[in-house]
Amino acid sequence: MRRVLFVNGPNLNLLGKRESSIYGEQSLTAINAEISHKANTENILIDFFQSNIEGELINCLHAADGEFSVVVINPGAYGHYSIAIRDAIAAISVPVIEVHLSNIAAREEFRHASVISAVCAGVIFGFGKNSYLLALEAAAMLMEGK
Ligand code: DQA
Repeated sequence: MRRVLFVNGPNLNLLGKRESSIYGEQSLTAINAEISHKANTENILIDFFQSNIEGELINCLHAADGEFSVVVINPGAYGHYSIAIRDAIAAISVPVIEVHLSNIAAREEFRHASVISAVCAGVIFGFGKNSYLLALEAAAMLMEGK
């Protein structure tokens, strides 16, 4: 089973329209198409989920357990304070990779901390949409046991 789930949290449905100087001009749909293309060439099955609602993200993480080999999550602002999402990640056995488009360490102080990083397999941030593509590569390495 080589299945990777990409989960996006609040406001990421507005990529392309939202603060494009920080998050880029591309929509989430366009970014997901690039991820799909790369996954196809690497024989990885992928799925996408986006929600602005914390509980839906938690339900999605619970449902991913046993169904996917790796989950990639951009938790949006929830990453900075949602202990409930942290607990959901800790509760499941599928490895989770945290991603952010922007370099959160170089932004406002309240974005420096992530409450989910410690329960994730790893973290990638600061590369714009390439953060997702790098996470797919990291997921492939995890699936190969590298
Ligand atoms: C973000 C960074 C968060 O601080 C912010 O709240 C977002 C997007 C990113 O991808 O850079 O919504 O997760």
